[in-house]
Amino acid sequence: MATTFPEGFVWGTATSAYQIEGAVREGGRGVSIWDRFSHTPGKTENGDTGDVASDHYHRWRQDVGLMKELGLNAYRFSIAWPRIIPDGSGAANQAGLDFYDRLVDALLAAGIEPFPTLYHWDLPEALYDKGGWLNRDAAGWFADYAAVVSSRLGDRVRRWITHNEPFVAAFEGYALGSHAPGLNDPKAALQVAHHLLLSHGRAVPILRQNSEAGAQVGIALNLSWVDPASERQADVEAAQRFDGLLNRLFLDPLFRGAYPADMLAYAGPLAPEVEPEDLLQIATPIDFLGVNYYSRAVVADDPQGGPLGARQIVPPYAELTEMGWEVYPEGLRQLLVRLHQEYHPAALYITENGCAAADRLQDGRVHDPQRIAYLSAHLAAAHQAIAEGVPLRGYLVWSLLDNFEWAYGYTKRFGLVYVDYATQARVVKDSGAWFRQVATANALP
Ligand code: FCB
Repeated sequence: MATTFPEGFVWGTATSAYQIEGAVREGGRGVSIWDRFSHTPGKTENGDTGDVASDHYHRWRQDVGLMKELGLNAYRFSIAWPRIIPDGSGAANQAGLDFYDRLVDALLAAGIEPFPTLYHWDLPEALYDKGGWLNRDAAGWFADYAAVVSSRLGDRVRRWITHNEPFVAAFEGYALGSHAPGLNDPKAALQVAHHLLLSHGRAVPILRQNSEAGAQVGIALNLSWVDPASERQADVEAAQRFDGLLNRLFLDPLFRGAYPADMLAYAGPLAPEVEPEDLLQIATPIDFLGVNYYSRAVVADDPQGGPLGARQIVPPYAELTEMGWEVYPEGLRQLLVRLHQEYHPAALYITENGCAAADRLQDGRVHDPQRIAYLSAHLAAAHQAIAEGVPLRGYLVWSLLDNFEWAYGYTKRFGLVYVDYATQARVVKDSGAWFRQVATANALP
């Protein structure tokens, strides 16, 4: 029997600006922290950069055509702040606005709903020079940027995402140093997380005000189901700390207007500086929560495991993707049910889910059965969550195209569509053809 999804279910793919656009010196675009980071020797595999990426800035018409061919009804993309306001604050760049304006029109003409994200990690370098997300003024810079974008696109965009994965932007960027701007300062990371959330809260009413009635605003968080590595009390507590940092540090302020007390106590002097009205603003009601889910986390106590005193382990016999991430679809069901029961978001979207595989172009085809199995299992888990009452409204695959996978450069392929980087030719993978069937039938075969 086919597994049918609710009527009006959103089926799409997701991408982000720096990962696909290229054309970093065209159309008046300013420099972002990812330009500088990727051009710093040793920061990315093979020294790869997003200078050319998947050349979407020039091939966007073809890419919209591909989505139409795949039968999709939504497209999550991100808007590059440095294209819109090259210096981060101040004058807007019409050529940048025009690019997204044309993209939105082409999507709508193809019957595909534009689902833009305002911030997918490409902070204008000029703002980083003023302290970037560590500067409390960043909340205001972001609100101004949100106003510029929504004044231009708000007549056509009906679903907005403020931020993508503030956890990753804050902790990979400022504590682990594996992402731009590449710092190793846990206290800074917590302060950045707070400012990212504050900027979200500031932008929500602006996006609503500049859009048509009924437009929805949300945020996309990277969330995981967290299991302790054993039943030992130390591991159980380590898993709680990990959950506190990854999940609750973002969910609690957004949905409850407070940071989790156990995490504030644990952070001690590392806790962020928070002003009186901040949490009220952060908890401004949103219309949906976007969930980016790839894997669960299995966590062990480890006194050497950084400030958190914890370490992620890979369970023996786990099936892994090319990223080394465990394939664990049951965690998606568990996570969705937990979010619904504990935080009650009005609606949820899976704003990213997908896997990297060792894709090879052979005789003009790409056979990727692992990806089909991964997507199919996660969609079955999502369907189960819906059956359990979770108001899940849509599912967006990461990603439409193979692209620049941050510090991994071009070594990891996540697309439903293969990109031959030598020629920029696009080839729909077997998983793309499979997903087309799912999206058009609104059901898993
Ligand atoms: C997420 C990011 C996205 C992509 C996937 C694989 O953390 O939001 O840009 O890199 O992982």
